[in-house]
Amino acid sequence: MVELLPLANIEASAVEALLDAAFGSDRFGRTAYRIREGTAAVPALSFARVEDGVLVGTIQCWPVAHRAPDGTATPLVMVGPVAVRPDLQRGGYGRALMARMLEAAEQKADSALMMIGDPEYYGRFFGFTADATGAWDLPGPYEKRRLLARAVNGHTLPTGAGMIGPR
Ligand SMILES: CC(C)(COP(=O)(O)OP(=O)(O)OC[C@H]1O[C@@H](n2cnc3c(N)ncnc32)[C@H](O)[C@@H]1OP(=O)(O)O)[C@@H](O)C(=O)NCCC(=O)NCCS
Repeated sequence: MVELLPLANIEASAVEALLDAAFGSDRFGRTAYRIREGTAAVPALSFARVEDGVLVGTIQCWPVAHRAPDGTATPLVMVGPVAVRPDLQRGGYGRALMARMLEAAEQKADSALMMIGDPEYYGRFFGFTADATGAWDLPGPYEKRRLLARAVNGHTLPTGAGMIGPR
C-alpha cells in the first residue's frame, strides 16, 4: 500500500535516517540548514511517502523571510529537502511529492516559494526559476543559478536585494 501522509505523522528518527541516506550525514553544514535555522517545518506543506508502512520519501517546507537592506521583511516558504530513498530514485516519487506539496501550497501557502535546487529538475517540472533571485543573498555559499523561486497562491516574489533567513 502506498500512502502520501502529512510528515507530522512520521517518527522524527525515521525522517532523519532517510535524509542521511539521501544527502549524507554531513548535510547539516549546508547553506539550506542555515537559512531555516531554528524554524519548524510547516505541517500543511510537508509530506511523507510511505510504502507498506516504510518511509521512502519526504518533502519539507520552512517559514523563512527575505530581509531588504531597509529592514522590510517579506515572508517566503523554503521548499526542501526533497528526499527519495536512494534505491528508489528516478521512479517518479520526487515528482509526486513535489506535486502534492504544490497542490497544498496553491491553497494554503502564506507566501511565495523559494529553494536551492537544480533548475534542470525544479524548473523543468515545477516552474521554479532564478529570475527573481539575482539580487538575493544567502547566509553561506551557493550557486546563483540554483537559487530558485516561484509565486504561489497569489503571493508574488520580492526581486530586490535581501538576505534570506529564518522567519
Ligand atoms: C532529487 C530527487 C528528490 C528526485 O526524485 P526522484 O524520485 O529520484 O526523481 P523523479 O523520478 O521524480 O524524476 C525523474 C526525472 O527527473 C530527472 N532528475 C532527477 N534528479 C535530477 C536532477 N538533480 N537534475 C536534473 N534532472 C533530474 C531524471 O532525469 C528524470 O527525468 P526523465 O523522467 O526525463 O528521465 C531524488 O533523486 C533524491 O532524493 N536525490 C537525493 C537528494 C537530493 O538531491 N534532493 C534534491 C535537493 S533538495
